[in-house]
Amino acid sequence: MSDAESSAKLAFKGQTYDLPVKKGALGPDVIDISKLYAEGKVFTFDPGYTSTASCESRITYIDGDEGILLHRGYPIDQLAENGDFIETCYLLYYGELPNQAQRRSFEHAITHHTMIHEQMSRFFQGFRRDAHPMAVMVAVVGAMSAFYHDSTDIDDPRQREIASHRVIAKLPTIAAMAYKYHIGQPFVYPRNELSYAANFLHMCFAVPCEEYKVNPILARAMDRIFILHADHEQNASTSTVRLAGSSGANPFACIAAGIACLWGPAHGGANEAALKMLGEIGTVDNIPAFIEKVKDKSSNIRLMGFGHRVYKNYDPRAKIMQQTAHEVLSELGVKDDPLLDVARELERVALNDKYFVERKLYPNVDFYSGITLRTLGFPTSMFTVLFALARTVGWISQWKEMIEDPSQRIGRPRQLYNGPLKRDYVSISKRGK
Ligand code: ACO
Repeated sequence: MSDAESSAKLAFKGQTYDLPVKKGALGPDVIDISKLYAEGKVFTFDPGYTSTASCESRITYIDGDEGILLHRGYPIDQLAENGDFIETCYLLYYGELPNQAQRRSFEHAITHHTMIHEQMSRFFQGFRRDAHPMAVMVAVVGAMSAFYHDSTDIDDPRQREIASHRVIAKLPTIAAMAYKYHIGQPFVYPRNELSYAANFLHMCFAVPCEEYKVNPILARAMDRIFILHADHEQNASTSTVRLAGSSGANPFACIAAGIACLWGPAHGGANEAALKMLGEIGTVDNIPAFIEKVKDKSSNIRLMGFGHRVYKNYDPRAKIMQQTAHEVLSELGVKDDPLLDVARELERVALNDKYFVERKLYPNVDFYSGITLRTLGFPTSMFTVLFALARTVGWISQWKEMIEDPSQRIGRPRQLYNGPLKRDYVSISKRGK
């Protein structure tokens, strides 16, 4: 590499600073500004971190312009078509696809950690029944650190691994309990003979008074939804988990922080918002008027499930999700779903509209996931919970990578201060009535 490529020059106030340039395995070069403040007493400004790499990672790669998503190098469509969620978890966490013995042992560990401490189940009774299940998730997952303190020593690699297995294994149980509590049904315990996804469907939809057989096609669809949401490099919730973890906080507290961040409508709440939007549009005839409202900036209405901070092309997960939606609808004999008709037509109209084309706005994974989850039987309030469940493996893999990174420091962004200048305190008697 020539000098010209290995460093960048910044000229500022008569000084020139040589900034090292790092090259990743894929993706744009990265100018290392970490010493800039120490040397030049100057910050960089990047709200929303649109041009800032916050860490070095080996887990997930996204090329937003080309619509590429790789986990440890493997394209998402190959994992979704040929693999399963357990294998994807192993890949994200340990870095390679498992061989047969590794898979057996990992699956055994996850399956045999699915029950939660019995006292935790009583924790649920403290919530109102109408509480949003995400509110319950934030609290119960955070409370895991109170129940599993034998795996909160982040400096012990084995404890880190046990905590990671625990969150991957127990999140489905906690999510299903949040759902059952919400609808007033008794909790259903995990079953070890079922796969990860089938066990989750069983815990959500079985009732003690009758036999419940998990439909293998629906279990496969659920598994694929989990794969599609497993990781997505340094998105808002993952960055939250890393930032929380950078202070040395325990892994359960970090995952709870990630869940809280994911709840927002611009992130994990988007599939709930997309389905709500499709329902409000109602019929295909209403699409042109809705599109006009979206394009009118004063309306503040966005086309939910469209656009992405990184993808400026088709989200590769959206294609697989669209196919999964069709499989689920056809398995359940839903011939005409008006919302699917609205979604398809809305997508067609938007992809041919100058406003969306110019801004490179394409459907993201959430555009079709709401329809799929609703057809599987989940209420909209559970959509983000399912996302959190699936993303847990991504969060914990990124957390582990951060803890094991020797260059890791506490995350502490700086700011451009524009508030009042220093001024003296005025006693309340002199501040007017
Ligand atoms: N509908 C209409 N206009 C949009 C949309 C949308 N969904 N998304 C972006 N735009 C417009 C913006 O108004 C802006 O227009 P302007 O240049 O005329 O001001 C331009 O496109 C760029 O938008 P930004 O908000 O700057 O893009 P950013 O990268 O910050 O936003 C985001 C990405 C938050 C995802 C945005 O596209 C959005 O709000 N989408 C809808 C919510 C959604 O589907 N979120 C799911 C994300 S995927 C996930 O979390 C799994």
